[in-house]
Amino acid sequence: MEKNYEERIVDPNIHNGDEEKDLSLRPQTLDDYVGQKEAKEMLSVYIQAAKMRNEALDHCLFYGPPGLGKTTLAQIVANELGVGIKIISGPSVERSGDLAAVLSTLNEGDVLFIDEIHRLPRYCEEVLYSAMEDYVLDIMVGKDSQTRSIRIELPPFTLIGATTRFGDLSAPLRDRFGVVLRLNYYTIDELESIITRTASVLESKIDLEASMELASRSRGTPRIANRLFRRVRDFADVRNDGVVSIDICKEALKKLGIDKNGLDYTDYRYLRAIVEVFNGGPVGVESLAATISEEVSTIEDVYEPYLLQEGYIKRSNRGRIATEKAYETLGVKFYKGIFA
Ligand SMILES: Nc1ncnc2c1ncn2[C@@H]1O[C@H](COP(=O)(O)OP(=O)(O)O)[C@@H](O)[C@H]1O
Ligand SMILES: [Mg+2]
Repeated sequence: MEKNYEERIVDPNIHNGDEEKDLSLRPQTLDDYVGQKEAKEMLSVYIQAAKMRNEALDHCLFYGPPGLGKTTLAQIVANELGVGIKIISGPSVERSGDLAAVLSTLNEGDVLFIDEIHRLPRYCEEVLYSAMEDYVLDIMVGKDSQTRSIRIELPPFTLIGATTRFGDLSAPLRDRFGVVLRLNYYTIDELESIITRTASVLESKIDLEASMELASRSRGTPRIANRLFRRVRDFADVRNDGVVSIDICKEALKKLGIDKNGLDYTDYRYLRAIVEVFNGGPVGVESLAATISEEVSTIEDVYEPYLLQEGYIKRSNRGRIATEKAYETLGVKFYKGIFA
């Protein structure tokens, strides 16, 4: 587990182009979208109601860790509504004029999807407030003493925002979403059916035992499940006439440095830092980040959510604490300290 990879295969944040190559992997309808039962049920009702009333769907906010299907769900919503979708990303919007330009191209009922909406500059956010609330754009024109505001009417539209960081959204923006849905990590059975579906779309053969194995190492995340499947399929194509068997699967995953629970060398480095450098914690995220030379935001958004959910670490107001499970994983004897 000491190996260093240029690209972390289980990093749910990496878009390596595979997804764009295989757009067919993205489910197109709510029925094809695996799991997230609650979110699907709510959306299905809201979509039907909006269609019956011939109104734009209320603005929706999807939040949760990367790779869980926020972008996919936004596209499905537009598809089920039978409307167009425009996609932009928060950090790519530099001036409020950029946002106004996109807004003014929307047709009635269309979806505007803003990915990473928490990274939209604050001064652009303000353009959204009146657009979301009253379907109008207030733009300042002219210079110095000549400035005046002109108002442009917009057709009714639906804003769908996606974020990995719900807490980073400003309260006024958050309050303007009528529908707020949190996406959760997927169960192994759900991931198994996503992998089976991916295999059939890509016309590959996979044994049930192998797809269960891949599912259990996918960190609850469809993007990782699909990526692991692709890498394992490469091994199967070269060594096993294209059949993804349990043996090929285990061999490939071992070579890729992914343990039986889907942890890789980066997780080990992180856990080892808490256990060995900071005696199991509590340790603040800044100290941890400095120790393993990673960004605080990467640690908080990418590594920790899964480790927390699976009980490898706990968070207290004094910092991160490694649990007994973390010690077991590292093969280090656990002494129950006062914090654990
Ligand atoms: N519920 C799901 N069912 C099937 N495939 C899914 C599901 N959610 C996500 N995926 C697949 O996982 C990949 C990542 O999903 P994406 O919507 O881009 O995640 P996010 O926007 O939350 O980072 C996509 O290729 C998509 O096909
Ligand atoms: Mg996305």
